[in-house]
Amino acid sequence: MDWGLSNRINRIFNKETGRTVMLAVDHGYFLGPISGLEVPSKTVTPLIEYADSLMLTRGILRTSVKPDNNIPIVLRVSGGTSILDEDLSNEGITTSIKEAVRLNASAVALSIFVGASNEKETLLNLAKLVDEAEEYGIAVLAVTAVGKNMVRDARYFGLACRIAAEIGAHIVKTYYCEEFEKVIESCPVPIVIAGGKKLPEEEAFKLAYNAIQKGAKGVDMGRNIFQSEYPVAAMKTIKAIVHKGIGLEEACALFNKLKK
Ligand code: R5P
Repeated sequence: MDWGLSNRINRIFNKETGRTVMLAVDHGYFLGPISGLEVPSKTVTPLIEYADSLMLTRGILRTSVKPDNNIPIVLRVSGGTSILDEDLSNEGITTSIKEAVRLNASAVALSIFVGASNEKETLLNLAKLVDEAEEYGIAVLAVTAVGKNMVRDARYFGLACRIAAEIGAHIVKTYYCEEFEKVIESCPVPIVIAGGKKLPEEEAFKLAYNAIQKGAKGVDMGRNIFQSEYPVAAMKTIKAIVHKGIGLEEACALFNKLKK
């Protein structure tokens, strides 16, 4: 692997633990101003110092994150649909590699929709992105998006993650599920998990804990952090789960202490 690519991937993962807490605030690219992300700078500013990396679109990066930040950027470069569309899988590439270079992105992120009507297009988009990004030593994170009718099990996520890795993604983001270890063992690149819809904090901590125990290299979490009533406390707790490996009881105790 070339030096630049390796260096960018290493920036995303903590040197001591080899894991990452990626703060995801890219939801607006198809969901608009969702709860907790109405004013992105207000959401990001208090949390950024606790994140190992930040996932967002160029529009929010340019307007809502100060350029004196040293945080590794994972730039969302796929889109073209909105929550009003019947078929969310109809995504294309929205941001060029040259723009990713200008924005000093460590990685670019794109969704693949395995099993959906635009499966082929999104997989070919991933292949094109890997070819272009590797020319500049930029890493690619593939997001395994799930359609409404998809079964969210290890067989399905194992399929989607493995295809993403086969096409050349350097990191894969997926969802935690039963028998998650099977998804991990059959994917030769690091997996991070999305948090999904807002859960009670204890459940979100359990999700992160279980994923780490089963081999995830971190989380790429958004709503379960910024939609919490106590986002900084939630973020710090997730960080302790990911990097210190604290258990659920300790995590809940820490969160309750930090809330105060
Ligand atoms: C989807 O909107 C994005 O890819 C999010 O970055 C991803 O779903 C992670 O965010 P959350 O933890 O809120 O699911």
